[in-house]
Amino acid sequence: MKALALTGTPGVGKTSVAEVLRRKGYEVISFNELARKFDCIIGCEDNCFVVDLEKLKEKFKPKKFVIIEGHLSHHLADTAIVLRCNPLILKNRLLCRGWREEKVMENVEAELIDSILIEALDVCREVHEIDTSNKSINEVADEVISVVEGKAKYPPGKIDWISELDNDIEEVIRKTF
Ligand SMILES: Nc1ncnc2c1ncn2[C@@H]1O[C@H](COP(=O)(O)OP(=O)(O)OP(=O)(O)O)[C@@H](O)[C@H]1O
Ligand SMILES: [Mg+2]
Repeated sequence: MKALALTGTPGVGKTSVAEVLRRKGYEVISFNELARKFDCIIGCEDNCFVVDLEKLKEKFKPKKFVIIEGHLSHHLADTAIVLRCNPLILKNRLLCRGWREEKVMENVEAELIDSILIEALDVCREVHEIDTSNKSINEVADEVISVVEGKAKYPPGKIDWISELDNDIEEVIRKTF
């Protein structure tokens, strides 16, 4: 494993888990920091950087193991851990950030239909999936470390929010809060 991507829909906890990993001595860099470092930021839309991904992929050649965190980080790594979060919890988190309704719903929908997982499966050699919904940030960090150390695998495919939420699905997709 040359680089590990800590990826997932906005709000699932990537940066929070990254902070714990840094405290434990792992080298963790954010996708945006990398984009800035390699001069690959080409714009800003909706408070998010627009990154020249092809240029960044060409320029980023890690010499030693590094963890990259961000919702596009899977494009830069051979292994990805996709953090997942119950869409109802995610919706509340994103609303608390003060994001506008449309942006919240876009991201809740993306989580509901496994968007990032599907992308990661497309571009990475190895993909793990961790449900963070009922875990503390420290517990999630421990699970990430167990993957890094080769002690555990979290194969994707166990999470099915649409079936799990069942009766709550209307609550998830309701456009008026
Ligand atoms: N396991 C968890 N349990 C409870 N709260 C959590 C957990 N993980 C993250 N949070 C909270 O959720 C919020 C979003 O977390 P964070 O900023 O780490 O997400 P992110 O995946 O980095 O989002 P973004 O892609 O937008 O940067 C924070 O307020 C954080 O404290
Ligand atoms: Mg973050």
